[in-house]
Amino acid sequence: MSTYLICSAYKVEQLPKTNLPNIVLTGRSNVGKSTLINKLIGRKQLARTSNKPGKTISINFYNYKDMIIFVDLPGYGFAHRSKSTVLTWKNLVETFFNKNDNLELFLLLIDVRIGVKDKDLELFYYLEQFNKDIIPILTKTDKVNKNYVNKQIDQTSAIINLSPNKIKHFSHKDPKSMVEIWNTINKALQRD
Ligand code: GTP
Ligand code: MG
Repeated sequence: MSTYLICSAYKVEQLPKTNLPNIVLTGRSNVGKSTLINKLIGRKQLARTSNKPGKTISINFYNYKDMIIFVDLPGYGFAHRSKSTVLTWKNLVETFFNKNDNLELFLLLIDVRIGVKDKDLELFYYLEQFNKDIIPILTKTDKVNKNYVNKQIDQTSAIINLSPNKIKHFSHKDPKSMVEIWNTINKALQRD
């Protein structure tokens, strides 16, 4: 069974109709969304990554073995975009959320070095309306020490009022962290 890019939607008209559970990755620009998708699906560069923030400018849909659709949303908090581009994205992303019957799970990525920002919180509250699990994931944990990761887990847990064990962490250098995220995904999928 294969894994492939279904489409990159730049405009509302390009949003695909899907009838598989959608797992949506979201978070600030450069936080590591596309990198995590590549790790989860086991493909090195199917989702394009870059050290230049704002790489993903479309909503990208990946069919994973006809079981799941991973959705890579454009990152927010990246200033170097024109106002009209930002408005087009806002419309695209809102349409994606509002016209979608297959939303299943949200992965909200947060750079462990930056922590939760206002925009992340705004998004967290916005996602709550869909009544699906929202899993915060602290990313790039290889850049800091373990104490720091634990400290950020506690802080994130306090800010978004979620028990610390619901907060995951990820580093592309730590295969165990990816397995843990897969376990969390599988549990969430089995619940329905
Ligand atoms: P946008 O598409 O711009 O929103 O970014 P993104 O969230 O998709 O981030 P992307 O996956 O492109 O990663 C951004 C940069 O961070 C790349 O240079 C990655 O190699 C790097 N990166 C991602 N994950 C990790 C990680 O776990 N550890 C380290 N050290 N770097 C990472
Ligand atoms: Mg990306």
